[in-house]
Amino acid sequence: MSNLSSKRSNVSVPLTPRDNAARIPTKPISTSVAIAFSVVASVLAVGIGLRITDSTSHSQGPALAGYYAVCSRHGNIYTVDSANSRVDCLVVNNSQILHTANLADTKRTTNLPIRYVPRNAIVLPGLSDSHGHLLEYGASRQLPLEGTATINDTVARVREYILRTPAVLNNPNAFIRGGGWDHTSWPGSAWPTAADLDADPVIRGRPVVLQSKDCHAQWVSARTLELSAPLPSGVEGGVILTDDAGAPTGVLLDNAQELLKTPSLTEVDLMQRFSVAVNDALAYGLTSVHDAGLDPTSLDFFIRQAETGHIPIRIYGMKFFDETQPYWGNTSQPFVGAANGRLTARSVKIFADAPRSLHRQPQHHWFHAPPSEVLFEFIPRFLRDGWQVNVHAIGDRANGIVLDAFEASLAGVNVTALRPRLEHAQLMSTADMVRLGKLGVIASVQPTHAISDMWYAQDRLGPERVKGLYAFRSLIDSGAKITLGSDFPVETMNPLAGFYAAITRVSLEGTSPHGPGGWFPEQRLTRQEALRGMTIDPAYASFTEAELGSLEPGKRADFVVLSRDIMTIAPARILGTKVLATVLDGHVAFGAL
Ligand SMILES: *[C@@H]1O[C@H](CO)[C@@H](O)[C@H](O)[C@H]1NC(C)=O
Ligand SMILES: *[C@@H]1O[C@H](CO)[C@@H](O)[C@H](O)[C@H]1NC(C)=O
Ligand SMILES: *[C@@H]1O[C@H](CO)[C@@H](O)[C@H](O)[C@H]1NC(C)=O
Ligand SMILES: *[C@@H]1O[C@H](CO)[C@@H](O)[C@H](O)[C@H]1NC(C)=O
Repeated sequence: MSNLSSKRSNVSVPLTPRDNAARIPTKPISTSVAIAFSVVASVLAVGIGLRITDSTSHSQGPALAGYYAVCSRHGNIYTVDSANSRVDCLVVNNSQILHTANLADTKRTTNLPIRYVPRNAIVLPGLSDSHGHLLEYGASRQLPLEGTATINDTVARVREYILRTPAVLNNPNAFIRGGGWDHTSWPGSAWPTAADLDADPVIRGRPVVLQSKDCHAQWVSARTLELSAPLPSGVEGGVILTDDAGAPTGVLLDNAQELLKTPSLTEVDLMQRFSVAVNDALAYGLTSVHDAGLDPTSLDFFIRQAETGHIPIRIYGMKFFDETQPYWGNTSQPFVGAANGRLTARSVKIFADAPRSLHRQPQHHWFHAPPSEVLFEFIPRFLRDGWQVNVHAIGDRANGIVLDAFEASLAGVNVTALRPRLEHAQLMSTADMVRLGKLGVIASVQPTHAISDMWYAQDRLGPERVKGLYAFRSLIDSGAKITLGSDFPVETMNPLAGFYAAITRVSLEGTSPHGPGGWFPEQRLTRQEALRGMTIDPAYASFTEAELGSLEPGKRADFVVLSRDIMTIAPARILGTKVLATVLDGHVAFGAL
């Protein structure tokens, strides 16, 4: 490996991204990426640091700046083409893959700098997460409160965050947002109070809002209560915790959370969240993320980033549909491939059921399940008006109703042109899986949810229904197209955890309710299927299979270099695999080549 490095090399990828968040610079993308890219460009232009550099290459000038080959002496480049071929070399010209080739031919090519990957390393197409939440992920990393042992321990984290964040420390009015606390893990399971926060001299008087881990509660400071006053005495579907005298104590549950008056996010807030999320994603080897829920604030922010050219990763956005708001499918246009293929928003996300009992979901305002008439009315309208329709469906009932609505909408229609998706497709009857396959609807599934939920799934669903939960093999066997994602920040963003979960169906420690062979092991995916599910399948699910998802001539040069061959090593070693480089459009965005 040469010194062609944009950030740092050989950073290990932990399962919890916290270490990364600390190590990777989190200054606004606008500067860090611009610097990274200009460093890459200038290094390439003068041909410094390439292991084998043709001495004449730099004399060709900037036109050849992005002309290079990446080779493996062991044929470890997995192209993920239709034959799942492996090759020795990938030849890149600027942002495109020129061709793949064997080593001997590549060495004979004049003026072609070659970079070799280390002996055990492999090259894969850039990895894609088909279902994540970028800005929510960034928010969750800002002041994470998971795993605290006591109320005071949690308060201490808030204090430390203030002390290490000058923009907050020096501005007593700066809104402090955090989340992830769980009072049931504290002694006595007592609810915290505003007084607990205000007992700390650093926090006292500041506006603080802390979301609980399950998103059902907000814990706020006295200043936040003051800013939100007067609170009503009650609220439908919510609770304001009060003391004996009837005064709010500082915790608001469920719908009462909406009573808090919090300022909208500033550009700096958004940029911080974006920067953290994108840096972590690139460090994990992701080159594309399907953002499963853009509200107007996040979409506008991404558009502003696209306009200024500061989108370091591909974002495939799904715009939320809120049925209490006007229909927008015929008044706004899908946009595709803005900022040189970095930003697309051509799909709509519709909820068919609540974000459910089996796992948590980031909070947003589209929580409630719409009546099924909404699906029958809006699915065909969005499809007709040119939108991909991605419906969130967790339970078997919701999945069945969505399929009814898709079936009605797709009669006589070319499904390949529309590619509707079921987001989660978590629990499905056998008959509905067959229907899914027949209709050509894509199942966008999350393997890490399976290994999170497997411990209590059967207790909740019973021995028969549970067989239709995360039944990935059955989905494929029924002819359904699948695509894989993580639902970060609900689960880790690390795509290798998803790969591991899909092929093993055991916990990260190697266990399952059905033993070390895996939970319903017959539902495991093969490594080939899991790899396709993170590369070419997400490309299909986002209408980009002609330019992304495999290493073939003419496609964009998006690829990753991993330290170990995840296609052959023992499953337990997959999680220790490092991302050595993440490359988008031929440029190193993380690590080194
Ligand atoms: C590389 O791409 C540039 C345009 O981006 C083109 O002018 C040049 O001919 C290409 N080089 C090769 C070897 O194909
Ligand atoms: C928690 O912190 C408060 C205020 O700093 C202190 O009075 C109290 O003793 C602490 N409680 C425990 C259990 O440490
Ligand atoms: C959008 O659809 C609504 C309802 O069908 C219709 O009233 C409206 O005129 C349409 N708007 C456009 C711009 O086509
Ligand atoms: C269906 O649509 C796809 C993508 O637009 C197209 O390639 C294919 O030819 C179409 N099939 C038919 C039968 O029209």
